[in-house]
Amino acid sequence: MEINWDAFLAPYAQAVEELKVKLRGIRKQYRQGNTHVPIEFVTGRVKPADSILAKADLRHIALENLESEMQDIAGLRIMCQFVEDIQDVVKMLKKRKDFTIIDEKDYVMHKKESGYRSYHVVIEYPVQLINGEKKILAEIQIRTLAMNFWATIEHSLNYKYQDELPQEISERLERAAEAAFQLDEEMSQIREEIQEAQHLFSY
Ligand code: GTP
Ligand code: MG
Repeated sequence: MEINWDAFLAPYAQAVEELKVKLRGIRKQYRQGNTHVPIEFVTGRVKPADSILAKADLRHIALENLESEMQDIAGLRIMCQFVEDIQDVVKMLKKRKDFTIIDEKDYVMHKKESGYRSYHVVIEYPVQLINGEKKILAEIQIRTLAMNFWATIEHSLNYKYQDELPQEISERLERAAEAAFQLDEEMSQIREEIQEAQHLFSY
């Protein structure tokens, strides 16, 4: 099957641009209020054609079924300061009326074998095209800065070694993921203690 990639990817690119604006808008709204801002920053990307083909091959996805079976052609990431922020962001996403959540995976509480943690939400997002509405799938990954730090480096190392890292290295990366998570928990603890102290002083 011959795919016209520009045409195929256009609605995904449109969705990523719109969702970046919308999710960054949430951050702006929080900043205007006098409350803690649960979103630190937002990124987005469209999966390049060569990566789509490689993944389709690996996962045995027929090219005819890309739209329904590859959920991360449009990808968004929301980075949070604290682990607790992740649930707040997910709750907020669930209340929105501009897309539907069709799947979620909690790799924050249930880490992957690699050590990876993040909360994944798959949404169905309607894009308005000149010839009507098209619903596309997009994957939103919600994670802390520490989880993002680990995932970014682990991904680039795995990429360099074509996913064939020696066992010993994989084990060290897993321990590094645990260290990142402990750092997250320590930051939450520190924050909690500061809040308690502020509460006491305000009387
Ligand atoms: P694929 O989407 O086919 O990869 O499998 P899946 O749907 O079972 O995966 P899942 O939804 O759990 O995760 C997909 C995405 O999460 C990947 O494209 C990565 O962005 C991220 N991810 C998952 N596991 C890891 C990991 O071990 N390391 C890093 N760096 N990222 C991961
Ligand atoms: Mg997936």
